[in-house]
Amino acid sequence: NWDMGQFIDLEVDKIREQVGDRKVLLGLSGGVDSSVTGVLLNKAIGDQLVCIFVDHGLLRKNEGDHVMDSLEGKFGLNVIRVDAKERFMSKLAGVSDPEQKRKIIGNEFIEVFNDEATKLEGIDFLAQGTLYTDVIESGTTTAQTIKSHHNVGGLPEDMQFELIEPMNTLFKDEVRALGEELGMPSSLVWRQPFPGPGLAIRVLGEVTEEKLEVVRESDAILREEIANAGLERDVWQYFTVLPGFKSVGVMGDGRTYDYTIGIRAVTSIDGMTSDWARIPFDVLQKISTRVVNEVDHINRVVYDITSKPPATIEWE
Ligand code: XMP
Repeated sequence: NWDMGQFIDLEVDKIREQVGDRKVLLGLSGGVDSSVTGVLLNKAIGDQLVCIFVDHGLLRKNEGDHVMDSLEGKFGLNVIRVDAKERFMSKLAGVSDPEQKRKIIGNEFIEVFNDEATKLEGIDFLAQGTLYTDVIESGTTTAQTIKSHHNVGGLPEDMQFELIEPMNTLFKDEVRALGEELGMPSSLVWRQPFPGPGLAIRVLGEVTEEKLEVVRESDAILREEIANAGLERDVWQYFTVLPGFKSVGVMGDGRTYDYTIGIRAVTSIDGMTSDWARIPFDVLQKISTRVVNEVDHINRVVYDITSKPPATIEWE
């Protein structure tokens, strides 16, 4: 195991030596990896670091604001938020194939990032929160799209950024330890993994504003109840999905014909394999009741009890 204090000292020296008095750009997603990268870089080079947070409108409830609240101006970080929701939604209109959705989001991300990077002057380096697991990753289904977005390959050649990846020798648990050592709050350090394409791959098929809203609201209820039950650290990842089919139900004296929400909650070490989380029935009961009562157009809630393999963690 690493001594994180020592790791910080070594990396800070290394970064200072590499960067000198030049400038570094970091794509910040609000996830653990990029956030810790940002704070570490800031410790090394202060104001020479500029962060861009692209809000693609596919984040969880209040997430964009939360990311800004917890990072902008904190730890000396300088974060530019780009509201790109309209751009992403118009590109996604009418598209239902999962891989195509991913591709569109990935490409648009690069476009937005480029547009913003071009506005800034004198950037020489691009930083990424690449982990050791990303480095050794060998053709699994885990498409770490958001990371490849930030890859130099996606940027115009005349930019010629040099790459900085200060965490590419670390595993996830070490990144969390590093974040804690750097004094970051647990709401950032213990954030569950969230895919780059965001809620777009949790609305199965075509993405619409209405469907995103259903996923966003049900997901917020799930997260609240997981927190109330004190299960946040026991479950690796938990979220809701909207499969998009309708089924019959009964509410009051009336028959309903409405959508189903799926709950996915898994335990895992690294996301490569996973098991479904044994969430207590009474917690599931509470979530189900609240989702049906509080979210419009939902009359049924199901719990996904498949491990990975054979299923994946996400439904798309
Ligand atoms: P799967 O669904 O492949 O997910 O079992 C494994 C882990 O990867 C995340 N995931 C993604 N992350 N872009 C990402 O950045 C993606 O396209 C993507 N697809 C899945 C997923 O949330 C889980 O943590």
